[in-house]
Amino acid sequence: MKKILIGLLVLLVAIQFFQIDKTNPVADEKLDFLVMNNTPPEIASQIQASCYDCHSNKSNYPAYTYIQPVGWFVKNHIEEGKEHLNFSEFGNYSAKKQAHKLEESYEMIEKSEMPLSSYTIIHNEAVLDATQKEVLISYFKEIEKGIKK
Ligand code: HEC
Repeated sequence: MKKILIGLLVLLVAIQFFQIDKTNPVADEKLDFLVMNNTPPEIASQIQASCYDCHSNKSNYPAYTYIQPVGWFVKNHIEEGKEHLNFSEFGNYSAKKQAHKLEESYEMIEKSEMPLSSYTIIHNEAVLDATQKEVLISYFKEIEKGIKK
């Protein structure tokens, strides 16, 4: 038993040497979803608070991401999140893809699948109440309608 514990401790110390890359790719502001659409400030700040850590090139890495394997877990969500949707590179998407991503976005909010619950446990400011959900859903729908496919 003692050997196993010591082994685990050594492992825990060893993995601290494998820190995650916390640099954000440089983003061209003109391609940013909120900039492109001149999103009203209250809506923009809610989207930033609820989605941007995982779906933009402006991720914040809190201090606890220096602790492994927590950092790996967070980094994995960010990479996977951006693969599906990157608001910082929204302008690079085709019109069809933009419309599709907006549709997915309001569906995810409707079903309370986004923002991820593992995130909202820690990030209170990301939690969407019923009214905030409505606001974001109708905003994404409005922008989707305006896109010429
Ligand atoms: C903690 C990180 C995190 C946050 C915050 C977050 N997402 Fe995600 N998102 C992910 C990950 C990881 C995936 C890919 C895996 C999955 O679908 O669970 C994803 C997938 C998606 C997808 C693609 C779904 C599909 O079917 O392919 C959309 C759209 C999306 N998120 C929208 C949002 C919106 C809108 C917000 C804010 C209201 C948000 N997400 C907040 C991590 C996050």
